[in-house]
Amino acid sequence: MSINIEEAKSILKKYGQEHILNSYEKLDDHYKKSLLNQIETMDFELINSLYKNTDKKEKNENDEITPIDYLDKYKLKDEYKYYENIGKKAIRGKKLAAVTMAGGQGTRLGHDGPKGTYDIGLDSHKSLFELLSDTLKEEGKKYDVTIPWFIMTSKENNKDTIEFFEKHKYFGFQKDKNIFFFNQGELPMVNTEGKILIGENGLIKQAADGHGGIYESLVKTGMVKKMKELGIEWVFIGGVDNCLVKMVDPVLMGIAIDKNVTVACKSVVKANPHEKVGVFCKRNGRPNVIEYSEITDEMAEARDKNGELLYGESHILCNLFSIEAIERMGASPLPYHVAFKKASYLDENGELVVPDSPNAYKFEAFLFDAFAAVDEMAVLRVKREEEFAPVKNADSVGIDCPKTARELYKKFYHID
Ligand code: UTP
Repeated sequence: MSINIEEAKSILKKYGQEHILNSYEKLDDHYKKSLLNQIETMDFELINSLYKNTDKKEKNENDEITPIDYLDKYKLKDEYKYYENIGKKAIRGKKLAAVTMAGGQGTRLGHDGPKGTYDIGLDSHKSLFELLSDTLKEEGKKYDVTIPWFIMTSKENNKDTIEFFEKHKYFGFQKDKNIFFFNQGELPMVNTEGKILIGENGLIKQAADGHGGIYESLVKTGMVKKMKELGIEWVFIGGVDNCLVKMVDPVLMGIAIDKNVTVACKSVVKANPHEKVGVFCKRNGRPNVIEYSEITDEMAEARDKNGELLYGESHILCNLFSIEAIERMGASPLPYHVAFKKASYLDENGELVVPDSPNAYKFEAFLFDAFAAVDEMAVLRVKREEEFAPVKNADSVGIDCPKTARELYKKFYHID
């Protein structure tokens, strides 16, 4: 049972968020109850402390950054087959599940609807979801298994995503048998005065808590339990917006199993030293990803004795985890990073305000922050043209956009 209005007032007073009840009387009973429930379950201490940190620069300038070792898939020679055989055996043994992170807002692409429903303009007019489902089914066939597919949505796009899958008969998967949907967590958005925003529906305005929320959501929503029931030991986690994502890779799996690591990640070499991508590194001796904005020109251009970039392995959100690693990572929250975004809201008079410039803080966790909890991790360099065709921006931007992804996809699949 939810708290009553007086109890809600007293909680909000304590945290200086009394405005949240401004439109309470205008709400119908269902929404009144939902709002009280939000107030009861909200971690206001956390929100206040996140807001207090918004004016502080992230304290990482004293971190010790060093290069990380990696393997190049196409320089493996004899070990290639060796790892591949180990991986194939595990896949045939139904030890692998695939997770697609589809909870992002896709603001840069500007598509009206979940990003996975986007048609990149192939003659087939297949959506990103369908392109991903095609590869997953094809790969499964090679090993005579159906790889279970788990799709992470946000509260905002969950309904539309499931309706889309329903309309397409789950692309041949069976709901709750080999395809599962789960929601990621959310955090409220806060204005520059630290006040929590109220959304158009009169409730607290929340936004997805970043792709780093995945571990906690996999655990909290019972997906890890489900995976264990299915006998899964390894989980590939990738983004929805890479139409060449290779979710089933026996070499990657073989390396993880043989080297006894709990996380194995794929990288592609940077297109040029100054490409704006995060790269794998060691931070204070632990595996991590360093953002392009954190790297000096000198570091970005530094090369090893073979002429390879020391910080050249881009993180492409193609990562394999043991199920124990996910459980461990899901047990404690990751740090949150702050982004300043445009967000519409109801003002103190209950009027809708649609800003034309950023007005609110959004808090997000990054998936790769969890790598720091791992002692050793494998990084496998793969070929960009085979595995990485991101759809991030609108075509007008010209890079990582539907046009470039479509060209890469067609080239890979030899489509004219
Ligand atoms: P991006 O960081 O590129 O974000 O997500 P985005 O939301 O798709 O796009 P922008 O930044 O708003 O333009 C990389 C992957 O992580 C997923 C996305 O769906 C995409 O597959 N993601 C991101 C989530 O699942 N949840 C999040 O909260 C954020």
